[in-house]
Amino acid sequence: MTDLLLLPGDGIGPEVTAEVRKVAAVLTPDLVIEERLFGGCSFDAHGTPLTDDTLAAAKAAKAVLMGAVGGPQWAGAPRDRRPEAGLLGLRAGMKVFANLRPALCFQPLADASSLKRELVEGLDLMIVRELTGGVYFGQPRFIEDLPGGGRRAVDTQVYTTAEIERVSRVAFELARGRRNKVHSAEKSNVMETGLLWREVVTDLHRREYADVELEHILADNAAMQIVKSPKQFDVMVTDNLFGDILSDAAAQLTGSLGMLPSAALGVPGTPGLYEPIHGSAPDIAGKGIANPLAAILSFEMALRWSLDRPEAAGRLFAAVNRALEAGARTPDLKGALTTAQMGDAVVSQLRS
Ligand code: NAD
Ligand code: IPM
Ligand code: MN
Repeated sequence: MTDLLLLPGDGIGPEVTAEVRKVAAVLTPDLVIEERLFGGCSFDAHGTPLTDDTLAAAKAAKAVLMGAVGGPQWAGAPRDRRPEAGLLGLRAGMKVFANLRPALCFQPLADASSLKRELVEGLDLMIVRELTGGVYFGQPRFIEDLPGGGRRAVDTQVYTTAEIERVSRVAFELARGRRNKVHSAEKSNVMETGLLWREVVTDLHRREYADVELEHILADNAAMQIVKSPKQFDVMVTDNLFGDILSDAAAQLTGSLGMLPSAALGVPGTPGLYEPIHGSAPDIAGKGIANPLAAILSFEMALRWSLDRPEAAGRLFAAVNRALEAGARTPDLKGALTTAQMGDAVVSQLRS
Protein backbone atom coordinates (compact mmCIF):
# COMPACT_ATOMS: atom_id res chain seq x y z
CA MET A 1 0.00 0.00 0.00
CA THR A 2 1.20 3.49 -0.82
CA ASP A 3 1.97 5.55 2.25
CA LEU A 4 2.49 8.84 0.49
CA LEU A 5 1.28 9.88 -2.95
CA LEU A 6 3.42 12.75 -4.21
CA LEU A 7 1.87 15.18 -6.69
CA PRO A 8 4.72 17.60 -7.55
CA GLY A 9 2.58 19.65 -9.95
CA ASP A 10 3.81 22.70 -11.82
CA GLY A 11 6.26 25.61 -11.52
CA ILE A 12 8.24 25.37 -8.29
CA GLY A 13 6.11 22.37 -7.20
CA PRO A 14 8.57 19.76 -8.55
CA GLU A 15 11.51 21.76 -7.16
CA VAL A 16 10.22 21.85 -3.59
CA THR A 17 8.83 18.29 -3.54
CA ALA A 18 12.23 16.96 -4.70
CA GLU A 19 13.56 18.23 -1.36
CA VAL A 20 10.77 16.36 0.47
CA ARG A 21 11.96 13.17 -1.22
CA LYS A 22 15.52 13.82 -0.01
CA VAL A 23 14.31 14.36 3.54
CA ALA A 24 12.07 11.27 3.44
CA ALA A 25 14.95 9.09 2.15
CA VAL A 26 16.94 9.90 5.30
CA LEU A 27 14.16 10.24 7.86
CA THR A 28 11.70 7.50 6.85
CA PRO A 29 13.46 5.30 4.25
CA ASP A 30 10.79 2.57 4.61
CA LEU A 31 7.95 4.88 3.56
CA VAL A 32 6.34 3.75 0.29
CA ILE A 33 6.16 6.80 -1.96
CA GLU A 34 4.43 6.93 -5.34
CA GLU A 35 4.42 9.89 -7.71
CA ARG A 36 1.93 11.08 -10.35
CA LEU A 37 1.26 13.95 -12.72
CA PHE A 38 -1.23 16.50 -11.43
CA GLY A 39 -2.25 19.99 -12.47
CA GLY A 40 -1.01 21.66 -15.67
CA CYS A 41 1.45 18.86 -16.45
CA SER A 42 -1.39 16.33 -16.26
CA PHE A 43 -3.52 18.54 -18.53
CA ASP A 44 -0.68 18.56 -21.07
CA ALA A 45 -0.25 14.77 -20.89
CA HIS A 46 -3.86 13.60 -20.44
CA GLY A 47 -6.10 16.58 -21.26
CA THR A 48 -7.23 16.90 -17.64
CA PRO A 49 -5.50 18.21 -14.48
CA LEU A 50 -6.84 15.34 -12.38
CA THR A 51 -7.38 11.92 -13.97
CA ASP A 52 -9.75 9.37 -12.43
CA ASP A 53 -6.71 7.17 -11.83
CA THR A 54 -4.90 9.86 -9.86
CA LEU A 55 -7.97 10.61 -7.74
CA ALA A 56 -8.37 6.90 -7.03
CA ALA A 57 -4.68 6.68 -6.08
CA ALA A 58 -5.09 9.67 -3.77
CA LYS A 59 -8.03 8.08 -1.98
CA ALA A 60 -6.15 4.79 -1.66
CA ALA A 61 -2.96 6.30 -0.17
CA LYS A 62 -2.51 7.11 3.52
CA ALA A 63 -1.54 10.69 2.69
CA VAL A 64 -1.14 12.90 -0.37
CA LEU A 65 1.51 15.62 -0.66
CA MET A 66 0.98 18.22 -3.38
CA GLY A 67 3.59 20.76 -4.53
CA ALA A 68 1.77 23.53 -6.38
CA VAL A 69 -0.26 23.84 -9.56
CA GLY A 70 -0.99 26.44 -12.20
CA GLY A 71 0.83 28.99 -14.24
CA PRO A 72 0.42 31.36 -17.17
CA GLN A 73 0.83 28.51 -19.68
CA TRP A 74 -2.64 27.23 -18.77
CA ALA A 75 -4.47 30.55 -18.65
CA GLY A 76 -6.23 29.63 -21.90
CA ALA A 77 -7.19 26.08 -20.91
CA PRO A 78 -10.92 25.35 -20.68
CA ARG A 79 -12.06 26.73 -17.33
CA ASP A 80 -13.08 23.36 -15.88
CA ARG A 81 -9.76 21.83 -16.87
CA ARG A 82 -7.42 24.48 -15.52
CA PRO A 83 -4.85 23.24 -12.99
CA GLU A 84 -6.64 25.08 -10.17
CA ALA A 85 -9.89 23.28 -11.06
CA GLY A 86 -7.99 20.02 -10.64
CA LEU A 87 -6.94 21.06 -7.16
CA LEU A 88 -10.53 21.87 -6.19
CA GLY A 89 -11.57 18.49 -7.64
CA LEU A 90 -8.92 16.74 -5.56
CA ARG A 91 -10.00 18.49 -2.34
CA ALA A 92 -13.67 17.75 -3.01
CA GLY A 93 -12.97 14.18 -4.15
CA MET A 94 -10.93 13.45 -1.01
CA LYS A 95 -13.60 15.22 1.10
CA VAL A 96 -10.93 17.09 3.07
CA PHE A 97 -13.08 19.81 4.57
CA ALA A 98 -10.78 21.13 7.31
CA ASN A 99 -7.61 22.89 6.21
CA LEU A 100 -5.10 23.52 9.00
CA ARG A 101 -2.72 26.36 8.15
CA PRO A 102 -0.29 26.99 11.01
CA ALA A 103 1.53 30.33 11.01
CA LEU A 104 4.44 29.65 13.27
CA CYS A 105 7.32 32.02 13.78
CA PHE A 106 10.56 30.05 14.05
CA GLN A 107 12.75 31.79 16.59
CA PRO A 108 15.70 32.29 14.18
CA LEU A 109 13.33 34.00 11.70
CA ALA A 110 11.84 36.58 14.07
CA ASP A 111 13.77 39.27 12.20
CA ALA A 112 12.77 38.00 8.73
CA SER A 113 9.12 39.06 9.10
CA SER A 114 7.88 42.34 7.65
CA LEU A 115 6.59 43.10 11.15
CA LYS A 116 8.72 44.10 14.13
CA ARG A 117 10.36 41.25 16.02
CA GLU A 118 8.34 41.81 19.21
CA LEU A 119 5.07 41.44 17.30
CA VAL A 120 5.90 38.04 15.81
CA GLU A 121 8.38 36.40 18.18
CA GLY A 122 6.69 33.27 19.58
CA LEU A 123 3.75 33.55 17.16
CA ASP A 124 1.75 30.31 16.92
CA LEU A 125 -1.52 30.91 15.07
CA MET A 126 -3.57 28.08 13.60
CA ILE A 127 -5.97 29.05 10.84
CA VAL A 128 -8.66 26.44 10.23
CA ARG A 129 -10.02 27.10 6.77
CA GLU A 130 -13.19 25.42 5.53
CA LEU A 131 -12.02 23.81 2.27
CA THR A 132 -14.79 22.04 0.36
CA GLY A 133 -17.65 24.53 0.43
CA GLY A 134 -18.49 28.20 0.17
CA VAL A 135 -18.05 30.33 -2.91
CA TYR A 136 -15.41 27.96 -4.33
CA PHE A 137 -18.07 25.35 -5.00
CA GLY A 138 -21.46 27.13 -4.79
CA GLN A 139 -23.91 26.89 -7.70
CA PRO A 140 -24.96 28.65 -9.83
CA ARG A 141 -21.77 30.12 -11.24
CA PHE A 142 -21.45 31.48 -14.75
CA ILE A 143 -20.70 34.48 -16.95
CA GLU A 144 -23.45 35.50 -19.36
CA ASP A 145 -23.92 38.08 -22.08
CA LEU A 146 -26.47 40.74 -21.32
CA PRO A 147 -29.03 41.63 -24.03
CA GLY A 148 -28.15 45.32 -23.92
CA GLY A 149 -24.40 44.63 -24.11
CA GLY A 150 -21.92 43.93 -21.36
CA ARG A 151 -21.76 40.71 -19.38
CA ARG A 152 -22.79 39.47 -15.95
CA ALA A 153 -20.79 37.12 -13.70
CA VAL A 154 -22.29 35.13 -10.85
CA ASP A 155 -20.64 33.21 -8.01
CA THR A 156 -22.62 31.74 -5.16
CA GLN A 157 -21.60 31.49 -1.53
CA VAL A 158 -23.39 28.57 0.14
CA TYR A 159 -22.96 26.97 3.56
CA THR A 160 -25.07 24.43 5.40
CA THR A 161 -25.31 23.94 9.14
CA ALA A 162 -23.51 20.60 8.84
CA GLU A 163 -20.59 22.09 6.89
CA ILE A 164 -20.09 24.88 9.40
CA GLU A 165 -20.44 22.60 12.38
CA ARG A 166 -17.91 19.96 11.29
CA VAL A 167 -15.13 22.46 10.57
CA SER A 168 -15.86 24.39 13.78
CA ARG A 169 -15.65 21.18 15.75
CA VAL A 170 -12.11 20.66 14.37
CA ALA A 171 -11.19 24.19 15.52
CA PHE A 172 -12.57 23.69 19.04
CA GLU A 173 -10.86 20.31 19.40
CA LEU A 174 -7.53 21.80 18.27
CA ALA A 175 -7.89 24.73 20.68
CA ARG A 176 -8.33 22.35 23.62
CA GLY A 177 -4.85 20.99 22.94
CA ARG A 178 -3.39 24.49 22.56
CA ARG A 179 -4.25 27.78 24.32
CA ASN A 180 -7.98 27.06 24.40
CA LYS A 181 -9.11 30.07 22.37
CA VAL A 182 -11.07 30.20 19.10
CA HIS A 183 -11.80 33.23 16.95
CA SER A 184 -14.52 32.66 14.36
CA ALA A 185 -14.20 35.08 11.42
CA GLU A 186 -17.05 35.87 9.02
CA LYS A 187 -19.08 38.80 7.66
CA SER A 188 -22.35 38.31 9.54
CA ASN A 189 -22.94 42.04 9.16
CA VAL A 190 -23.46 41.74 5.39
CA MET A 191 -23.72 38.07 4.38
CA GLU A 192 -26.42 35.49 5.07
CA THR A 193 -23.77 32.76 5.15
CA GLY A 194 -21.91 34.86 7.71
CA LEU A 195 -25.00 35.10 9.85
CA LEU A 196 -25.62 31.35 9.74
CA TRP A 197 -21.91 30.77 10.40
CA ARG A 198 -22.07 32.86 13.58
CA GLU A 199 -25.27 31.16 14.78
CA VAL A 200 -23.98 27.64 14.20
CA VAL A 201 -20.62 28.31 15.89
CA THR A 202 -22.36 29.94 18.85
CA ASP A 203 -24.75 27.03 19.22
CA LEU A 204 -22.05 24.35 18.94
CA HIS A 205 -19.93 26.22 21.47
CA ARG A 206 -22.80 26.40 23.95
CA ARG A 207 -23.71 22.72 23.53
CA GLU A 208 -20.28 21.08 23.47
CA TYR A 209 -17.35 23.47 23.90
CA ALA A 210 -18.30 25.97 26.61
CA ASP A 211 -14.88 25.36 28.22
CA VAL A 212 -13.15 26.92 25.17
CA GLU A 213 -12.94 30.70 24.93
CA LEU A 214 -14.82 31.85 21.80
CA GLU A 215 -14.77 35.25 20.12
CA HIS A 216 -16.57 36.23 16.93
CA ILE A 217 -14.73 38.66 14.71
CA LEU A 218 -15.65 40.26 11.38
CA ALA A 219 -13.24 39.06 8.70
CA ASP A 220 -12.06 42.53 7.68
CA ASN A 221 -11.19 43.35 11.27
CA ALA A 222 -9.46 39.95 11.52
CA ALA A 223 -7.21 40.92 8.59
CA MET A 224 -6.29 44.15 10.36
CA GLN A 225 -5.71 42.45 13.72
CA ILE A 226 -3.48 39.80 12.09
CA VAL A 227 -1.03 42.48 11.04
CA LYS A 228 -1.54 44.64 14.16
CA SER A 229 -1.13 42.12 16.97
CA PRO A 230 -1.10 38.57 15.64
CA LYS A 231 -0.12 36.94 18.94
CA GLN A 232 -3.60 37.59 20.39
CA PHE A 233 -4.82 34.65 18.26
CA ASP A 234 -4.67 30.94 18.98
CA VAL A 235 -7.07 29.18 16.56
CA MET A 236 -9.02 31.06 13.90
CA VAL A 237 -11.83 29.25 12.07
CA THR A 238 -13.18 30.78 8.88
CA ASP A 239 -14.71 30.02 5.51
CA ASN A 240 -12.99 28.93 2.31
CA LEU A 241 -12.39 32.36 0.74
CA PHE A 242 -11.56 34.33 3.89
CA GLY A 243 -9.27 31.48 4.97
CA ASP A 244 -7.39 31.65 1.67
CA ILE A 245 -6.76 35.36 2.05
CA LEU A 246 -6.08 35.50 5.79
CA SER A 247 -3.58 32.63 5.57
CA ASP A 248 -1.46 34.37 2.91
CA ALA A 249 -1.32 37.42 5.18
CA ALA A 250 -0.46 35.26 8.20
CA ALA A 251 2.28 33.51 6.20
CA GLN A 252 4.19 36.73 5.74
CA LEU A 253 4.32 37.14 9.54
CA THR A 254 6.53 34.05 9.65
CA GLY A 255 9.02 35.57 7.22
CA SER A 256 7.76 34.25 3.88
CA LEU A 257 4.89 32.62 2.04
CA GLY A 258 7.47 29.88 1.43
CA MET A 259 7.31 28.91 5.12
CA LEU A 260 3.64 27.96 5.49
CA PRO A 261 2.57 24.31 5.26
CA SER A 262 -0.96 22.97 5.45
CA ALA A 263 -2.91 19.83 6.23
CA ALA A 264 -6.36 19.20 4.80
CA LEU A 265 -8.28 16.61 6.76
CA GLY A 266 -11.56 14.77 6.30
CA VAL A 267 -13.24 12.38 8.70
CA PRO A 268 -10.82 10.28 10.79
CA GLY A 269 -9.44 7.26 8.96
CA THR A 270 -9.45 8.93 5.53
CA PRO A 271 -6.25 10.20 3.87
CA GLY A 272 -5.14 13.78 4.41
CA LEU A 273 -3.99 16.18 1.70
CA TYR A 274 -0.83 18.12 2.54
CA GLU A 275 0.30 21.16 0.59
CA PRO A 276 2.38 24.28 1.02
CA ILE A 277 -0.04 27.21 0.87
CA HIS A 278 2.02 28.98 -1.80
CA GLY A 279 1.46 28.61 -5.51
CA SER A 280 3.63 27.63 -8.46
CA ALA A 281 5.52 30.97 -8.28
CA PRO A 282 6.02 31.44 -12.05
CA ASP A 283 8.31 34.42 -11.36
CA ILE A 284 11.00 32.20 -9.81
CA ALA A 285 10.18 28.75 -11.27
CA GLY A 286 13.14 27.02 -12.88
CA LYS A 287 15.67 29.15 -11.05
CA GLY A 288 16.18 26.68 -8.20
CA ILE A 289 15.75 29.33 -5.50
CA ALA A 290 12.29 28.55 -4.10
CA ASN A 291 12.04 27.95 -0.37
CA PRO A 292 11.26 24.23 0.13
CA LEU A 293 10.45 24.55 3.83
CA ALA A 294 6.68 24.93 3.36
CA ALA A 295 6.72 21.63 1.45
CA ILE A 296 9.07 19.97 3.96
CA LEU A 297 6.89 21.17 6.85
CA SER A 298 3.81 19.86 5.00
CA PHE A 299 5.55 16.47 5.03
CA GLU A 300 6.09 16.97 8.78
CA MET A 301 2.33 17.50 9.17
CA ALA A 302 1.64 14.36 7.11
CA LEU A 303 3.91 12.32 9.39
CA ARG A 304 1.97 13.62 12.38
CA TRP A 305 -1.63 13.64 11.15
CA SER A 306 -1.87 10.78 8.63
CA LEU A 307 1.18 8.53 8.79
CA ASP A 308 1.23 7.93 12.54
CA ARG A 309 4.90 8.83 12.91
CA PRO A 310 4.95 11.59 15.51
CA GLU A 311 8.52 10.78 16.51
CA ALA A 312 9.83 11.28 12.95
CA ALA A 313 7.77 14.48 12.72
CA GLY A 314 9.37 15.78 15.89
CA ARG A 315 12.85 15.02 14.55
CA LEU A 316 12.07 16.80 11.29
CA PHE A 317 10.66 19.87 13.00
CA ALA A 318 13.75 20.12 15.20
CA ALA A 319 16.03 19.68 12.17
CA VAL A 320 14.33 22.56 10.34
CA ASN A 321 14.70 24.77 13.39
CA ARG A 322 18.40 23.90 13.73
CA ALA A 323 19.03 24.52 10.02
CA LEU A 324 17.49 27.99 10.42
CA GLU A 325 19.48 28.56 13.60
CA ALA A 326 22.64 27.71 11.68
CA GLY A 327 21.71 30.51 9.26
CA ALA A 328 20.21 28.59 6.32
CA ARG A 329 18.21 31.10 4.24
CA THR A 330 16.74 31.04 0.74
CA PRO A 331 16.34 34.40 -1.08
CA ASP A 332 12.75 34.93 0.15
CA LEU A 333 14.29 34.91 3.66
CA LYS A 334 16.96 37.35 2.48
CA GLY A 335 19.61 34.68 2.07
CA ALA A 336 21.40 33.11 -0.87
CA LEU A 337 20.85 29.35 -0.61
CA THR A 338 19.38 27.41 -3.50
CA THR A 339 16.36 25.17 -2.99
CA ALA A 340 18.63 22.13 -2.98
CA GLN A 341 21.05 23.68 -0.49
CA MET A 342 18.18 24.44 1.89
CA GLY A 343 17.02 20.82 1.59
CA ASP A 344 20.60 19.66 2.20
CA ALA A 345 20.81 21.86 5.30
CA VAL A 346 17.78 20.09 6.77
CA VAL A 347 19.11 16.66 5.77
CA SER A 348 22.48 17.36 7.36
CA GLN A 349 20.73 18.35 10.61
CA LEU A 350 18.74 15.11 10.46
CA ARG A 351 22.00 13.17 10.12
CA SER A 352 23.75 14.94 12.99
P1 NAD B 1 2.34 32.29 -5.61
O1 NAD B 1 2.09 31.79 -4.23
O2 NAD B 1 2.73 31.30 -6.61
O3 NAD B 1 3.47 33.44 -5.54
C1 NAD B 1 3.31 34.66 -4.83
C2 NAD B 1 4.69 35.27 -4.54
O4 NAD B 1 5.34 34.50 -3.52
C3 NAD B 1 5.63 35.23 -5.75
O5 NAD B 1 6.44 36.37 -5.74
C4 NAD B 1 6.48 34.00 -5.50
O6 NAD B 1 7.78 34.05 -6.07
C5 NAD B 1 6.57 33.97 -3.98
N1 NAD B 1 6.70 32.58 -3.48
C6 NAD B 1 5.72 31.65 -3.44
N2 NAD B 1 6.18 30.49 -2.95
C7 NAD B 1 7.48 30.69 -2.68
C8 NAD B 1 8.52 29.86 -2.17
N3 NAD B 1 8.30 28.59 -1.82
N4 NAD B 1 9.75 30.38 -2.04
C9 NAD B 1 9.99 31.68 -2.37
N5 NAD B 1 9.06 32.51 -2.86
C10 NAD B 1 7.81 32.02 -3.02
O7 NAD B 1 1.00 33.05 -6.04
P2 NAD B 1 0.59 33.68 -7.46
O8 NAD B 1 1.77 34.22 -8.15
O9 NAD B 1 -0.55 34.51 -7.18
O10 NAD B 1 0.06 32.41 -8.29
C11 NAD B 1 0.82 31.74 -9.27
C12 NAD B 1 0.07 30.49 -9.73
O11 NAD B 1 -0.03 29.55 -8.67
C13 NAD B 1 -1.38 30.76 -10.16
O12 NAD B 1 -1.63 29.96 -11.27
C14 NAD B 1 -2.20 30.33 -8.97
O13 NAD B 1 -3.49 29.93 -9.30
C15 NAD B 1 -1.39 29.17 -8.48
N6 NAD B 1 -1.56 28.87 -7.04
C16 NAD B 1 -1.55 27.55 -6.72
C17 NAD B 1 -1.61 27.18 -5.40
C18 NAD B 1 -1.57 25.74 -5.08
O14 NAD B 1 -1.20 24.94 -5.91
N7 NAD B 1 -1.90 25.34 -3.87
C19 NAD B 1 -1.66 28.15 -4.39
C20 NAD B 1 -1.66 29.51 -4.77
C21 NAD B 1 -1.60 29.86 -6.11
C1 IPM C 1 -4.44 27.93 -1.98
C2 IPM C 1 -4.60 28.40 -3.41
C3 IPM C 1 -5.81 27.73 -4.05
C4 IPM C 1 -7.05 28.23 -3.33
C5 IPM C 1 -6.01 27.92 -5.58
C6 IPM C 1 -4.79 27.62 -6.36
C7 IPM C 1 -7.16 27.06 -6.05
O1 IPM C 1 -4.64 29.78 -3.47
O2 IPM C 1 -4.37 26.71 -1.76
O3 IPM C 1 -4.32 28.76 -1.08
O4 IPM C 1 -7.55 29.34 -3.61
O5 IPM C 1 -7.52 27.51 -2.45
MN1 MN D 1 -4.17 30.75 -1.58
